Amino acid sequence: MSKEDLSQSGLYLGREQSLVKHLILQSYLERFAHIIGSWSDAITYVDCFSGPWKERSQELKDTSFSIALEELRKAQKTRQKLGKSLKLRCFFLEKDPKAYAKLKEFADGITDVDIAHKNAALEDSIDDIMKFTRKVKSFPFIFIDPTGWTGFGMDVISPLLRLEPGEVLINFMTGHILRFIESSDLRTQESFVNLFGSASFKNRLKELEGLDREDAAVEEYCKNVAKMGRFSFVSKAIVLHPEHDRTHFHLIYATRNSTGIKVFKEAEKKAMTEMRHVRAEARQRKSEAKTLQPSFFEPEVLYSTSYFDELRDRYLAKAKLSIVHKLKQAGRIPYDDAWASVLSEPLAWESDLNDWIKDWEETEQVVVQGKRSPRQKPHRGENNILVWRG
Ligand SMILES: C[S@@+](CC[C@H](N)C(=O)[O-])C[C@H]1O[C@@H](n2cnc3c(N)ncnc32)[C@H](O)[C@@H]1O
Repeated sequence: MSKEDLSQSGLYLGREQSLVKHLILQSYLERFAHIIGSWSDAITYVDCFSGPWKERSQELKDTSFSIALEELRKAQKTRQKLGKSLKLRCFFLEKDPKAYAKLKEFADGITDVDIAHKNAALEDSIDDIMKFTRKVKSFPFIFIDPTGWTGFGMDVISPLLRLEPGEVLINFMTGHILRFIESSDLRTQESFVNLFGSASFKNRLKELEGLDREDAAVEEYCKNVAKMGRFSFVSKAIVLHPEHDRTHFHLIYATRNSTGIKVFKEAEKKAMTEMRHVRAEARQRKSEAKTLQPSFFEPEVLYSTSYFDELRDRYLAKAKLSIVHKLKQAGRIPYDDAWASVLSEPLAWESDLNDWIKDWEETEQVVVQGKRSPRQKPHRGENNILVWRG
């Protein structure tokens, strides 16, 4: 299904957070598969928590594995038209026997893709995934989409994070995690140390509240993922609760390639537009159900998206402050470092950085060295340097 068809399918009513997740996965893989397919002979897609989960489509069209397959196949067709081949390989894992039975039936009906599937927990399947991934020279993409915070401890997933080349997308169940992260129960405490791969998050969260606490937890996790996988770029997209002004989860993406981060941010940006729309619709539906009065206005007219705007302001301010701080301290920083720093924040885009630089140039606070012409925007990969004039 196209993005528009997914959004309008009605398959995600009441679980719009899954639509946003699937839109990000779909948009990312659409470009990823074409880019990787242009130089690699094979792609290995690993879905560690496949589902199906709360699906509504009989044909399982609203599942991550079906969406991923469709996008991978598009790239394969493009390569075929050029007389080239792209081998597609998938490993689908699911612990629940009932869900696995559906997954198996779906996978067994596919003949054009090399698919392995297993009814087991991730903790018991790392060797199998690694063997499958290494059997053929390919580019692996690992998707980790759990329902809670257990089953994918840092120790468990470390071999997957270290696959090189390779990328990962992890669903960090922020809302759920923050509710329990400071539990006094010893086993729960241990499960969080496993998740983060160390106990350092405890100090980081001390005395923090609200969004500061949330950001600190997510940043700590991202830092550990980056370290474990030696990733150069880690970014996170916020997925909000459809009806309440709070975070449902973060999709954390890690790569060693700057093109990857660019493509992920584009996928995030598109999905955020849709998220605003579906959240406004969800609120309108809730209000209509309560008042039994249909509304004659477009949802976005009645249902303010101010929380989203507040969040964007928050992360823009944070990203800008961090660059100004680095510029003041070092006097000069490579544009590429500023770019990576801004793109690591949710809801912050390359265009935001370029707008700030334009303003700073106009007020003569910053000079950009290495541009081909003074009026040109700086670009990644051109060795542009931002020099602070104060
Ligand atoms: C959030 S759902 C996955 C949804 C799916 N990725 C999608 O987007 O359509 C998580 C799935 O992981 C399964 N699961 C839970 N713990 C697991 C584990 N330790 N290993 C593998 N699968 C697990 C659950 O049964 C459930 O089907």
